[in-house]
Amino acid sequence: MKLAGPEAAGIHARAAVPAAAGRAGVGVSVEVHDVTVAYGRKPVLWDVDLVLPEGRLVAIVGPNGAGKSTLLKAILGLVPLASGRVTIFGEPLRRVRREIGYVPQRETVDWDFPIDALGVVLMGRYGRLGWIRRPGRADREAARECLRQVGMEDFAGRQISQLSGGQQQRVFLARALAQDARLYFMDEPFAGVDAATETAIVEVLRRMREAGRTVVAVHHDLQTVPEYFDHVVLLNMRLVASGPVEATFTRENLQRAYGGRLTLLDEAAEAIRRGGGGA
Ligand SMILES: Nc1ncnc2c1ncn2[C@@H]1O[C@H](COP(=O)(O)OP(=O)(O)OP(=O)(O)O)[C@@H](O)[C@H]1O
Ligand SMILES: [Mg+2]
Repeated sequence: MKLAGPEAAGIHARAAVPAAAGRAGVGVSVEVHDVTVAYGRKPVLWDVDLVLPEGRLVAIVGPNGAGKSTLLKAILGLVPLASGRVTIFGEPLRRVRREIGYVPQRETVDWDFPIDALGVVLMGRYGRLGWIRRPGRADREAARECLRQVGMEDFAGRQISQLSGGQQQRVFLARALAQDARLYFMDEPFAGVDAATETAIVEVLRRMREAGRTVVAVHHDLQTVPEYFDHVVLLNMRLVASGPVEATFTRENLQRAYGGRLTLLDEAAEAIRRGGGGA
C-alpha cells in the first residue's frame, strides 16, 4: 500500500500544538511499508503498514509479545526485515541515522559497564564529536545541563550500576537529550519508575515536542495514553490501528488489540471518557 503525506497518517492540524509553530504543516517522520519480521521461521510482525507524524508524541501499545519492541528494532535496522521497507524523513535509515536516538527497554542494558552518570550522558554527544575529538568542556557542560533537566545533577559522578532503576532511566533520558536528535525511539520509558520520575519524564517529552522533536514510545499504561500522547499505534502482531489519539484510541480498537481483557479495557475507556487530549 502506498501512503504519502500527512493526510495519509490521519494527521490533523492543531493550532494549539506549539510543535507546529513556524513549520509548514506537520511532516512525516517514519513510514513503514508492508513490513514482516520473523525470528527464525516464526513471524512476529505481519505486513505492518504505517505512517507516523513528525513533531508529535507517539505511543505504541499492545499486549506482551505483540511485537512492539520488535517494531522499534525493525525501524532502527536492529533486526532484519523478512519483507517490506522503512523510510525515515523520506530517506533510508543509513542516511538519517545520526538524527535518531534510541532508549532501549531497561532490562536489555548491561548495567555493570563501568561508567558514571555523566559518562553515559556524554556518550550522547559522540555522534556529533566523531571518533577522534574527545569531549571538551562545552560537552561536559551540555551533559551536566541534560542531567539537571532530569533532576540527576547530584549523581553525575555516580557509577551507573549504583543508581536505582528509576534513576538509571532518567540518566538514559538525559543521554537522549544530549544527543539532540530529531527523532527518538523509547522502549517503555515509564516502566518501573515512581510518580515523580514519571512526571519528570513526561515534562522532558513535552519539551522535546515543543522543540519540534518526534518521540515514538512503547507504552503499557493505557490509562495515561490520552493524557501523554498525540498519536497512537495499536499492535498485536498485525497493525490494529494507527492515528490521532482522539480518533484511534477507541474501545473497539482496544478490544481488537487486547482481546477479552475487559477490566483493563474498561479502565482505558474510563480514561478516554475523562478526556486527556494529547497536547
Ligand atoms: N530475539 C528473539 N528471538 C526469538 N523470538 C523473539 C526474540 N525477541 C522477541 N521474540 C518473540 O517475538 C515476539 C514479540 O516480541 P517483542 O519483544 O517484540 O514483544 P513486545 O510487544 O515488546 O512485548 P513486551 O510488552 O513483553 O515487551 C514474542 O513472541 C517474543 O517471544
Ligand atoms: Mg517489549
